[in-house]
Amino acid sequence: NGVTVPGRPATIVIFGATGDLTRRLLVPALANLCFDGLLSEELNVIGIALRDGDDESLRVSLDEFAPQTQCWQRLRQRTSYLPGDFTLGTVYERLKQRLGEGDAAFYLATPPQFFGVIVDRLADAGLTEEHDGGFRRVVIEKPFGHDLESARALNQRILSRVNESQVYRIDHFLGKETVQNILVARFGNAWLEAVWNHRYVDHIQISAAEAIGIGTRGAFYDTTGALRDMVPNHLMQLLSMIAMEPPNSFDAEVIRDEKAKLLRAVRRITPDEARSDAVRGMYAAGQVNGQMIPAYRETPHVDPNTATETYVALKLMVDTWRWTGVPFYLRTGKALAARDTEIVVTFNPVPYATFRETPVAHLPANQLVFQIQPHEGIDLGFLVKRPGPQVEAVPVALDFAYAEKFAVAHRTGYETLLYDMIMGDQTLFQRADQIEAGWAVVQPILDAWARGEGVLEEYTPGTSGPRAADALIARDGRQWHALGR
Ligand code: BG6
Repeated sequence: NGVTVPGRPATIVIFGATGDLTRRLLVPALANLCFDGLLSEELNVIGIALRDGDDESLRVSLDEFAPQTQCWQRLRQRTSYLPGDFTLGTVYERLKQRLGEGDAAFYLATPPQFFGVIVDRLADAGLTEEHDGGFRRVVIEKPFGHDLESARALNQRILSRVNESQVYRIDHFLGKETVQNILVARFGNAWLEAVWNHRYVDHIQISAAEAIGIGTRGAFYDTTGALRDMVPNHLMQLLSMIAMEPPNSFDAEVIRDEKAKLLRAVRRITPDEARSDAVRGMYAAGQVNGQMIPAYRETPHVDPNTATETYVALKLMVDTWRWTGVPFYLRTGKALAARDTEIVVTFNPVPYATFRETPVAHLPANQLVFQIQPHEGIDLGFLVKRPGPQVEAVPVALDFAYAEKFAVAHRTGYETLLYDMIMGDQTLFQRADQIEAGWAVVQPILDAWARGEGVLEEYTPGTSGPRAADALIARDGRQWHALGR
């Protein structure tokens, strides 16, 4: 992306070094950064996990997903292993000896119950103290909390030991190219800003649909559900990027202030609205893309009587001058018709009067689609005249696909996040108030569902989800954008 400054020499300490996240994403991302010349040649990696092992056994376990480049060979030699229990002080004493005084980032790629204790132990051992312009940073994966109260408690616990400037809360959606592009598209294009408000926008849809089922993640997922897993974090990030006010610079704090402000402006859902404006669903057995998947309730490590949702749709209002009266419809779910993460902005229809004496019977509204996954791009629906003697209006797409315009190398999505973290840029990381504002939006729905309110509807895999979700948007005279289009 035009940046060529290699990061500072530092040590990245990964807690949970034998886990999937480390093997599949973090280490390959570091190797890619190294390949792009964006890592210091003196960067070290220390992996910590409970399992017995030595440097070589860790390196071998990382080889499987790391790109086989010279860079990886070099980084591999600088990767070492420290077996130990993260809840006990001994491993931190050994870590301290290995680290010395240098810059270090502690990456918590562990289950969430360890986040607080690891920060406590790091601080107890004096490992989080920053001296003479050096850095000590803590990178925290999701889920950050289980609800508003636990997220607040975790923030308090962490911030009683380290400063906010040392904390990098990951939301991996912010590492996606198209998500970052939202800001450039919005604030780099004059015409877009001119129509980016309630006068021209009818409504906005944010979808994160997945075709896969829960598979082997039953134990995690059954205590989480679609709402907690995707909405307060990923979907709220997309919402704040698409709806925030223009920041007056690209400075991290300025952008984070605007995003937090937007999230705080989301209208609090009342108990009645939690029943009427949120829909939950759970997939039954069925086929997705020709493959049979078992019902969610039959998934390994899932309680056969579970009431955990695998789909959620909701309607939110944003009480700002810009967005007054514009509904935001959000949905996310598993085992749906297609993998499709997108933001669709539907504009108000133009007045029909001009066309009334032509054969044009219907003028479809313009739509602007930020396509985030699986293909990254932007589509603008544009109405044109079909060639011929009669006036006939048809929508065509002005579409831009990243892959067609730019040579996009295969990336994990963690490269930018890791690079920014090493460079000390917190723009793409969630501040404590953003995290809490995201949870505050969904808390009334969590409460309503905990009281047993709201029907949990079964849906057929390979479809667009529960019928109640179609009804939710149809009630307002609108419909969901077709998945996978
Ligand atoms: C994760 C969720 O945060 O995001 C998963 O825990 C989900 O359930 C994943 O599948 C989606 O991310 P991506 O990048 O594959 O769209």
